[in-house]
Amino acid sequence: MFARCFCSVHWRTLPFGRRRVYFHSTAKEPRLVLGIETSCDDTGAAILDENGKILGEALHSQKDVHLKTGGIIPVVAQKLHADHIDSVVNEALSASGLTPQALSAVATTVMPGLALSLGVGLSYSLKMVKQYSKPFIPIHHMEAHALTVRLLHQVEFPFLVLLVSGGHCILAVAKNVADFLVLGQSLDEAPGESLDKVARRLSLINNPDCSAMSGGQAIEHMAQFGNKELCNFRIPMSHHRDCNFSFSGLRNHINYVIQQKESEEGIQQGQILSCAADIAAASQHTVARQLAKRTQRAILFCKEKGLLPAANATLVVSGGVASNGYIRRILKNVSYSMDVSLLCPPPKLCTDNGVMIAWNGIERLRAGVGILYNAEEVRYEPRAPLGTDISDIVRKADIKVPTLKEKLFLDIA
Ligand code: KG4
Ligand code: ZN
Repeated sequence: MFARCFCSVHWRTLPFGRRRVYFHSTAKEPRLVLGIETSCDDTGAAILDENGKILGEALHSQKDVHLKTGGIIPVVAQKLHADHIDSVVNEALSASGLTPQALSAVATTVMPGLALSLGVGLSYSLKMVKQYSKPFIPIHHMEAHALTVRLLHQVEFPFLVLLVSGGHCILAVAKNVADFLVLGQSLDEAPGESLDKVARRLSLINNPDCSAMSGGQAIEHMAQFGNKELCNFRIPMSHHRDCNFSFSGLRNHINYVIQQKESEEGIQQGQILSCAADIAAASQHTVARQLAKRTQRAILFCKEKGLLPAANATLVVSGGVASNGYIRRILKNVSYSMDVSLLCPPPKLCTDNGVMIAWNGIERLRAGVGILYNAEEVRYEPRAPLGTDISDIVRKADIKVPTLKEKLFLDIA
């Protein structure tokens, strides 16, 4: 049903900076959407046609800058978005061979995210839709992560979705394009944020292999060489029979262990512990186990309440942390053991990009929801729920989850 175009021949890294562009020579399709993403630290733009064909894409990542400063400084992110948005949009447009006049609509992330970053994308987009008299489609960033999978696979609603990123951790039932039931979410920080902080605390940036990686990527890389059994971190909130998550207590415990090991090894901050790989492996494993446990409960809840199809139910995992191969493999084993299929977008579409925003615009255009012909009143919203919160109902269902069998982890050790 959906055309695909992720052929590697269209993928190219330009000589300047970290800008990536898809080139495509396909003829114009009837409806075309420009998607713009600036909610955090990636400036992304893409033009997709109604069938999901990517006509042009460009991305400018601020990762290198934020790695050096030890985290995202909002005003720095804002300036970098402002410096790059015009060239990113123009690159995507010129790769598609289209002019703005040919667009059917502009779709832009307006929630949730960093206020200053969202503001750059929104004001740029509002100028553009005014100048070219185009409809505007405001996009919820997490809805876009949830729907990306439908660009690549024929996944019908409803499906279960686990969204794991640097800012969020949400388990939800996607009932329709703009209709989500939130079963649970993080009560404190997101898994990507925790892994970023652990990577920073372990000074992984000083390991040449990891110096250009995000914190989560660096943890995954190091974990390959570590033994997760050498550190024992408890799974947070394992006695709470709900689908909420917590990562900050785990991160504090990991930091405490790092501090202990540093004094045992007599090393200075900035040096890398001899057991850094073991800590990375144990951290990744504990995050994965928490995700798995909550996902198991969500599947059982959905089965009990008839929220998913009785046969061929699907679990979608998306967001930056879903790039993690270890987490994917654990969730694959869990979903397989519960008779549910797992689908994840490829890593480059799990982390933030313009394609997912344009695709969300296409989804909304096709469904006829949220298309604005006068966008002057649109404001960005740094905090915004994804859908209807039914986490209380999940908690009251009081579902006991069977202990994850160690054999589920054997082939991924
Ligand atoms: O979705 P995303 O690009 O931005 C947000 O919406 O937050 O997610 C970024 C997060 C970062 O915290 C990054 O460390 C994490 O995704 N991440 C990973 C991996 N690649 C990116 N976490 C674990 N393993 C990875 N391979
Ligand atoms: Zn994201």
